[in-house]
Amino acid sequence: MKENNAPLLEVVDLKKYFYIRRSFLARTLAGARDQVIKAVDGVTLRINRGETLGLVGESGCGKTTLGRTILHLHRATSGKIVFDGQDISNPDRKALSQYRRRAQIVFQNPYASLNPRKTVRQILTIPLRNRGVHDRSQQEAEIVELLNRVGLNERHIDSYPHQFSGGQRQRIGLARALAMHPEFIVADEPVSSLDVSVQAQIINLLEELQEEFHLTYLFIAHDLSVIYYVSDRVAVMYLGHMVEVAPTRELFDRPLHPYTQALLSAIPVVDREARRERIILEGTVPSPIDPPPGCRFAPRCPQKKGKVCEHETPPLRDLGGHLVACHLY
Ligand SMILES: Nc1ncnc2c1ncn2[C@@H]1O[C@H](COP(=O)(O)OP(=O)(O)O)[C@@H](O)[C@H]1O
Ligand SMILES: [Mg+2]
Repeated sequence: MKENNAPLLEVVDLKKYFYIRRSFLARTLAGARDQVIKAVDGVTLRINRGETLGLVGESGCGKTTLGRTILHLHRATSGKIVFDGQDISNPDRKALSQYRRRAQIVFQNPYASLNPRKTVRQILTIPLRNRGVHDRSQQEAEIVELLNRVGLNERHIDSYPHQFSGGQRQRIGLARALAMHPEFIVADEPVSSLDVSVQAQIINLLEELQEEFHLTYLFIAHDLSVIYYVSDRVAVMYLGHMVEVAPTRELFDRPLHPYTQALLSAIPVVDREARRERIILEGTVPSPIDPPPGCRFAPRCPQKKGKVCEHETPPLRDLGGHLVACHLY
């Protein structure tokens, strides 16, 4: 493993817009207009080697889109992505295929992400071939090793996804990612669809694998207790913007952004002493189709300062390792 202080991944002003085009008829008869969904709207972020960065925010705020855009599973609208010192914003085919090997994804719903017509052996053979392992017996040996490593019995090698439980399927998803020998994994709500007891097993496995293979994780979740448990640092997202980034303990002890404060006030307190008033947010999450100008949280913010919040987008400022995008600071 390279030991240096440069981040493994750096993202600068990354944007991903989805364009919804209306038909001629809808436009002329119903007055419908083409729409732009600003799912990720100028995110700047760094992820250090070997760390787990937790990404949290309400459903629809752009977490999945950010993760997929970072992995080039979506084509970025604009912005810069630097991986291991290499600018991969507009990679050529060779750079892209190398990156695809080094950066993997683990999905929320392990059932939907595994081909139901393929056995575990077939599913795991694909990444091995991508890595250049073509010898049959070597493939088999590696698959057996992978299965053992993620806690599955090798006698399941010729079983199909439907023959496994949710937790076991997520183990197959992990084995598939590991087969590429990645350095970076985007885990998109990897335990959200699992029972609580199974969640703990998968989280522990993810941590063991991280240590053993020196992995760096972007761990996406909407569940704050999961985020608290797994993350070294936490990034909070609201409507396509990053609103706060801080070391986990610091963020939970001293949330600065009014949105983070509201999110944290809604969960059972981790520290009994730091009992918080529950903050009820008014209004609903605005749509990313027509986001409010200025601070996106302003329409719901209990601490709004007035015009500046409504008209100027606050930059993400670094207050000594604790970053916050809010006009209060
Ligand atoms: N492929 C797509 N086409 C159009 N809109 C999309 C697409 N994927 C996501 N969106 C929209 O982008 C926004 C962010 O979605 P997503 O990244 O899935 O949020 P999260 O993962 O935080 O729940 C949502 O409004 C969603 O409807
Ligand atoms: Mg999502």
